[in-house]
Amino acid sequence: ILNRSDVPPFTIEEESDGGDDLRMKYRYLDLRRPPLQRNMILRHKMAQEIRRFLSDEGFLEIETPCLVGSTPEGARDFVVPSRMSPNQFYALPQSPQTLKQLLMVAGYDKYFQIVRCFRDEDLRADRQPEFTQVDIEMSFVDQNDVMSALEEVLSDAFGRMGVEMPTPLRRMDYWEAMDTYGSDKPDTRYGMHLVDLTDIFANSKFKVFATAANEEGSVVKAINAKGAGAWARAKIDKLAGVASTFGAKGLAWIAFREDGSINSPIVKFFSDEEMTALRERMDVEPGDLVMFAAGPRLLSDEILGGMRSHMANALEIKREGHDFLWVVNFPLFHWDEDRKAYAAEHQPFTLPTETDIAKIEADPLAAGSCTYDFVMDGFEAGGGGMRIHNAEMQMSMLKLLGFTEERAESQFGFLMEALKFGAPPMGGFALGLDRVCMLLTGSDSIRDVMAFPKTASGSDLMSGAPSAVSGAQLKDVSLRLM
Ligand code: AMO
Ligand code: AMP
Repeated sequence: ILNRSDVPPFTIEEESDGGDDLRMKYRYLDLRRPPLQRNMILRHKMAQEIRRFLSDEGFLEIETPCLVGSTPEGARDFVVPSRMSPNQFYALPQSPQTLKQLLMVAGYDKYFQIVRCFRDEDLRADRQPEFTQVDIEMSFVDQNDVMSALEEVLSDAFGRMGVEMPTPLRRMDYWEAMDTYGSDKPDTRYGMHLVDLTDIFANSKFKVFATAANEEGSVVKAINAKGAGAWARAKIDKLAGVASTFGAKGLAWIAFREDGSINSPIVKFFSDEEMTALRERMDVEPGDLVMFAAGPRLLSDEILGGMRSHMANALEIKREGHDFLWVVNFPLFHWDEDRKAYAAEHQPFTLPTETDIAKIEADPLAAGSCTYDFVMDGFEAGGGGMRIHNAEMQMSMLKLLGFTEERAESQFGFLMEALKFGAPPMGGFALGLDRVCMLLTGSDSIRDVMAFPKTASGSDLMSGAPSAVSGAQLKDVSLRLM
């Protein structure tokens, strides 16, 4: 006998009888279970294969620091108080973005790193406060060079995991993805496409639709969830609540019952012509539930995209095999309603599409960017783009994003200065290793492919983090608690 064991608080088997919290508290026991062992092994292999492949291709693995200056990239930073510089803070990197660009200036023209990133965001099944990227950057390349290099790495690594990824991957324009699937990370393994009905309702007696149909930039669109037309009224009524989580003010719907009757709060307003055109365009059959969104284009797309994926889950639509594609040419900016300002869609260092440079000042939302997201099974599994390598262009981009010249200098001056020393054209990418492993193992959450993840509220039930620190520790870093 080497040691004695207490009775474990849950059964350590293929399927455990322990609740989430209990298994998180005893994570080291949960990790003994075969499914988690298999996940850890797959993750290890994935990382090793990618590292070997990139190294063989001449990429150098270079480590970058975790204590860096705050360079906002979209999410909130985790900050770390400094003892040696009272009242000053480090931030943990949201990604090594600026550092890898500096490595390009430094002449390391093929860089990679399997690196931990930190973002203080609300957590979801595919989001953790710290996660791992396979981070890549290359110099003297164009967008196609970077994308085909990535296709090689990914298809090699997936192939070794027994998953075939045929290359070249399909490329879908951002607006095609939004208009057809209502998502910039569409799962294309099933249909339920978004259909534009704007022209049909131009003269409608239903005010909500007529108003949207006649407003510049607004649309009337719908999806057809086949099978949901048989749902009970109460179940259909609950869908408005789901739609509101995607920003909808209401959800108009028509249920075409199996017996040929129609149930709907809005059809009484429709003319015969509208109804006929609608049936034809939506390919209506008995048993269908047609759901509408009327309003601004992007918002309507997002609402229906959210409903499309909700209905696919609710109807248990089969999704066979894996689905891989690139979504390309994201807009350069989106409108941030909270800040009432333009915000970078990807990040502030993204190169605008060359032919759109003239639009940037005149019509910022219409300008495209040299960007590409790797989409797998309806998840954003990776993203990247070409970078601005000219200091003046970088400064004008920051100004468009609402930075004063002083703030731009103080936060990104080091980067803009570096760009003045003969920075090469550059571009790169970051693969979300946790998300890819989640999808390869068929897990429901990235927690299942991380050894020691956090709960949804960002805590570690095993060690008790986050926790209070002593008065002496606070004094060391010149902090007082509120
Ligand atoms: P981006 O912010 O798109 O790009 O991140 C790249 C990929 O990282 C994964 N990811 C996450 N995974 C788990 N939890 C999170 N909280 C989380 N946040 C992001 C996603 C995402 O696609 N520097 C740029 C890349 C570049 O342009 O080269 C960047 O970080 O899979
Ligand atoms: P109302 O006439 O405002 O009561 O709306 C009638 C129906 O249309 C209700 O089912 C609402 O949920 C729905 N509705 C309201 N606004 C919109 C909209 N912008 N898009 C889609 N449906 C809506």
